[in-house]
Amino acid sequence: MTIPALRSTTNKLAIVGAGAVGSTLAYAALTRGTARTVALLDVNTQKVEAEVLDLQHGMMFIPPAEIVGSDDVEVCRGADVVVITAGAKQQPGQTRLDLAEATIGLTRKILPGLLEVAPDAIYIMVTNPVDIVTYAAQKISGLPRERVFGSGTVLDSSRLRAALALHCGVAVGNVHAYIAGEHGDSEIVLWSSATIGGVPLLEWQALPEYGELGEAERAAIAHEVVDSAYRIIAGKGATNYAVGLASTRIIEAVLKNEHRVLTVSSRLDDYYGIDDVCLSVPSVVDRRGVPEVLRVPLSDAEIAGLTASAASMRAVQKRFGL
Ligand code: 2OP
Repeated sequence: MTIPALRSTTNKLAIVGAGAVGSTLAYAALTRGTARTVALLDVNTQKVEAEVLDLQHGMMFIPPAEIVGSDDVEVCRGADVVVITAGAKQQPGQTRLDLAEATIGLTRKILPGLLEVAPDAIYIMVTNPVDIVTYAAQKISGLPRERVFGSGTVLDSSRLRAALALHCGVAVGNVHAYIAGEHGDSEIVLWSSATIGGVPLLEWQALPEYGELGEAERAAIAHEVVDSAYRIIAGKGATNYAVGLASTRIIEAVLKNEHRVLTVSSRLDDYYGIDDVCLSVPSVVDRRGVPEVLRVPLSDAEIAGLTASAASMRAVQKRFGL
């Protein structure tokens, strides 16, 4: 009789960049038990060692996990998921697209080494401008489209759902509404397919003591979502908590093979006539990465918004020779 080994199969998450986003993501993933091994990689040796020590000191309060970190890419060897958070920091007043040059250069530099030590991983880009970085990573890596994708508008969709939940007086889990397009200024709300508790959002009747959800309120909520990162960056220099949680959600969808619908950014091919750009639309995320994007019914205004978002991405791609 063969006695099965006690060790269960492990899964490994490698996080590149131990800055505000990378280390908050590591913390979120550890507290949720997302991966059995969490590896942090950063060029700043002191910083990565300090973050790992700090995280290790909380080990008795979290699900079992191994936490490692280094300035050597070897620490990522055998990772199932590699998440890239390293890159230039968005300064107050800068748009995400202002970071394109620096982060494309960094992507070119770090990807080859990562692909060597983690050739079978799913690659998730979080660094901004995430749609451009995802497109660049896809080209540089030569990996199939489903294995390289970006965190996209998962965070923005969460911001939208939170704002709608507060405005309408229902739990955030009962709001189904998505932000699509660029993770940035040209993103759009898919109002026509949004629902709250099964009620089409465009037909929502205000609950007693809660506000109406007419055109003006919807426009104000959309503006609040697009503007929110700017407000946070002006107030504290970076966003980290919600992006850490959103990224953790995406990683879980991969590692746990959840087939979860999330608005991640992947390369679109003939999506309402949009080709060869990375943008977010509701997509299935599982152990394969992003095997499918959903053909969500869109209004004419939404198609126009998405097409404009794609044109703006294509212009940036062209500017940087991608
Ligand atoms: C965010 O939306 C800055 O992309 C980052 O929080």
